[in-house]
Order: sequence, then structure tokens, then C-alpha cells
Amino acid sequence: MKSVVIAKPGEMIVEDRPLPEPAAGEVRVKVNYASICGSDVHIWHGHNPFARYPRVIGHEFFGVIDATGEGVDASRTGERVAVDPVVSCGHCYPCSVGRPNVCRELQVIGVHRDGGFSEYAVVPASNAYVLPQSIPDKLASLVEPFTIAANICAFLKPQPNDVALIFGAGPMGLTAIQALKGVFNVRKVIVADRLPERLQMALENGADVVLDNSEIPLAAQLEGEQPTLIIDAACHPSILSEAVALASPAARIGLLGFSGEPCTVTQQSLTSKELSLFTSRLNSHRFPEVISWMEQQKIQPEKLVTHYLPLSDIEAAMTLFEKDPRSCCKVILTFS
Ligand code: NAI
Ligand code: MN
Ligand code: ZN
Repeated sequence: MKSVVIAKPGEMIVEDRPLPEPAAGEVRVKVNYASICGSDVHIWHGHNPFARYPRVIGHEFFGVIDATGEGVDASRTGERVAVDPVVSCGHCYPCSVGRPNVCRELQVIGVHRDGGFSEYAVVPASNAYVLPQSIPDKLASLVEPFTIAANICAFLKPQPNDVALIFGAGPMGLTAIQALKGVFNVRKVIVADRLPERLQMALENGADVVLDNSEIPLAAQLEGEQPTLIIDAACHPSILSEAVALASPAARIGLLGFSGEPCTVTQQSLTSKELSLFTSRLNSHRFPEVISWMEQQKIQPEKLVTHYLPLSDIEAAMTLFEKDPRSCCKVILTFS
């Protein structure tokens, strides 16, 4: 089988590998579609602190179960599945409180163990979620990115009377817009980005107001309107203090970033408005929720997709995704 392997930082190859056999408790998935994420590019360039090499990348993928390991119901063969990349131990403290995404022994498929940019992938059977026929194959790899929005929204508890502000209209910002509007019916979603093309995508994904903050700071453009719910989906360390300054009293702020640089905020700026800060990493068992959003057409995953390219064009696909945020959002790899 063909697999995209990052042999070491900076070196991406398409390798012929033996077909893997599912171990006890695992299924083998014949992958049909997989989408590229920023973290795949980071692993390629050696910028992901969690990655171990050599590694088959890819954590957003869809396929059909074609073999089952010991202890797995063999009738699962033939199921169309989306794969949750979060593999957890099931018994540590975070697992015991329903937070497997921060398990002490967390293994992320495509990061800590081999992933889905491969004709076949073996994964724990409990990570393979059956999809209803109403979700088409070519959009099914997008369940995973929407689980990021579902997870942060589980902390933020969006309400119809919220005025939301989202920093960043990349894939993460766009999934957040769709969730806030389509699932939680938030009255007003304001989106800030520096690229007009990305702001156009934000509008197409349901934003009510878009603001270009490349030259004029948001404080001047918001004209005193104070957002009650803020999501940082741009993840520059300077954004937290800006969000705190812009927020309404009693607002909630959600952070998704992994920067190692400090963010500077004062206790006074947080406590005087009694702001709530939440962070969110990957997802905790949110696949069923997002699958039902898709089934009920509360979200439109096709609005994120700009390109379909064959697995054999992986280098061109990854380069396009990385270098051209103006024309490119989600790139989906196709398998023959
Ligand atoms: P992206 O790079 O495609 O999008 C970021 C967008 O933010 C770009 O359009 C950029 O122009 C814009 N931007 C940059 N600085 C800005 C600023 N100061 N104000 C407004 N907009 C600004 O990235 P993507 O894929 O959407 O991911 C966003 C972030 O989310 C990344 O930092 C990534 O590491 C993080 N992430 C976190 C996850 C989690 O589970 N916590 C999961 C996936 C991504
Ligand atoms: Mn992803
Ligand atoms: Zn655990």
C-alpha cells in the first residue's frame, strides 16, 4: 500500500508499505478521502513538538472497514467510518472525567502513531464512527475539524443572545462560525482576519460582519460593541490581551493556540469584568455530535473545501495548502 511518510523533519516521501493487520481491538480502514490540516504541515517541517518520526501523517480521514482484529465484531466489515484521532487510556484522571483528549497517555493518530494519508490505516475499533448514508464520502473527512468547534463550544455554551467575535477565518475560524450560526443560533457573529479572501470565505460560511484588522485595530472598528463570546482561532499570543480588552463584562473567551510564547494579561483586566477563559484541545467524544449536525444539515462542510487532489500529488497539495491561504482552505486528498 502507498503511505505518505514524514521520514524525518523536512523529508516527505510516498512509501510502499506492507498491508497492516488489525491487532486485537482494532479495525483496518481502506481510506477513501483524507483532508490536510495545518498540523500535517507542521509535522512535515518538524514544528510539532509531539510528533515522532518516521510517521504516516493524516488525522482527518474517511474510509470503509475492510478487516477486523480479535475481539471486534466481524460484521463491522463494510461500515463507512470517520475516524476519531484521539486514542486514550480510559482510566487516568482526565479519562475518568470525560476528557480523553488530554489523557496522560494521549496518542493522536497521525501524530503519535501512524495516520490516514495511507491507502489503509489500522485504528482502535471504538475510534471508527459509522456514518449515515446522508453524509457523502467526499465530505466525511471533515467531521474531525468540526469536532474542534464542537469541543470549544461545549465549554463556551453559546446562546442566541451572544455577540460573538472570532479571530481568524482559516479552517478553524470557519468551522466555529458554522457551529455558532447553524447549531447555536447565535444572533451576531463578527469575524476578524487580515486577508480579504479569508473574510469573503467567512461571509460565505455565515458570518454576519467581517472586519479586516490588518491596518485599523478592532477596537476602533467595533465602535464600542463588546463581544460576549470570543474565540481565538488565529492563535497569535498577542490576541488574548486584545480579546480581554474588547470583551463585554461576563464574557467567555476560548483559546485554541499552542504557541510557546507568553501571553500578557493582568489579573485586573480579567477579574474586573469577571471573564471566563477556556482552552480546548482536539475533541472529547464529539464525533457523534458532529455527525448529527451534518446529518441534520446544520453545518455545510462543503463550504470549507477549495481543492480535491490525488494522494500521489501530496507534495503539491501540502505546498498549496501551506503557501496559498488566499485561494486555498481545505484540501481533500482522493484515493484511487
Ligand atoms: P490558518 O493559519 O489557516 O488560519 C488562521 C487565520 O488567522 C488566517 O486566515 C490568518 O490570516 C488569520 N490571522 C492571523 N493573525 C490574525 C490576527 N491577529 N487577527 C485576525 N486574524 C489573524 O489556521 P487554522 O487551520 O484555521 O488553525 C488556526 C489555529 O488553530 C492554529 O494556530 C492551530 O494550531 C490551532 N488549532 C488548534 C486546535 C486545537 O484543538 N486546540 C486544532 C486545530 C488547530
Ligand atoms: Mn485537523
Ligand atoms: Zn487516560
